[in-house]
Amino acid sequence: MNRHEFLRALHRLVRPRTYLETGTATGQSIALSRVPSIGIDPQFSITAELFADVHLARTTSDEFFARKNPLAHLPKKVLDLAFVDGMHLSEYALRDYLAVERFTTPASVVVFDDMLPRSVDEAARHRHTRFWTGDVYKAGLALREFCPDLTVLEVDTQPTGVVVVLTPNAARDGILPGYDDWLDVAMAPDPQDVPAEILSRSRAWDPEKLLASKGWRALPKLRRSKKVDAAAVRAAFDDVL
Ligand SMILES: C[S@@+](CC[C@H](N)C(=O)[O-])C[C@H]1O[C@@H](n2cnc3c(N)ncnc32)[C@H](O)[C@@H]1O
Repeated sequence: MNRHEFLRALHRLVRPRTYLETGTATGQSIALSRVPSIGIDPQFSITAELFADVHLARTTSDEFFARKNPLAHLPKKVLDLAFVDGMHLSEYALRDYLAVERFTTPASVVVFDDMLPRSVDEAARHRHTRFWTGDVYKAGLALREFCPDLTVLEVDTQPTGVVVVLTPNAARDGILPGYDDWLDVAMAPDPQDVPAEILSRSRAWDPEKLLASKGWRALPKLRRSKKVDAAAVRAAFDDVL
């Protein structure tokens, strides 16, 4: 299963009310959305047919989220589904996540693209290969390390893997204690020391098995509940987690 097939399945199962992505390029991923959406990309050049009510922001994600009311376009100022696929450097991807998380509920879902590079070359911070993940995999590792409240799942999609984050916590308010120390380490010069579990995908989920969880279909109902919390979301996924 490729990343767009996986994302399409999430749209179908999660039935988000809103969608946002960083990195829109030609529109292949935002074309999967049928709900009010935001696409952010300083250099988008849309060729895909779009079916949703979309705000395309021709800017960087950092500038976009620094705006006073970045979700002004959306009827509901909350993000039910987000796709982080902008600049392929880990500090950008982590900042995108932290910015998106401010607008989530515990029943929201955030997906990162390109999280399972297939080689050290593909994971280089300075691009020198045709397919390029950069070192965004480090953003997933940082969330695992610093945010035990999150459920961070690597998924074996083609070509370069995704990470799904469940139970985001808006109360973090964009602040990750330890970010500055992490940044010093994350910006290591190439070649990157990519962990074996990332390259081998040894802990990555089979996408079909993960999508078969009853948890996804529970999210719309949980979202409607005023008392939705991370424990309720985790319980909904108890058939796989
Ligand atoms: C891999 S492409 C996105 C592909 C798209 N999501 C899809 O699946 O079809 C990455 C995009 O990120 C954009 N990008 C680069 N730096 C960015 C930034 N700081 N903020 C947002 N987007 C950025 C690039 O212009 C590029 O179009």
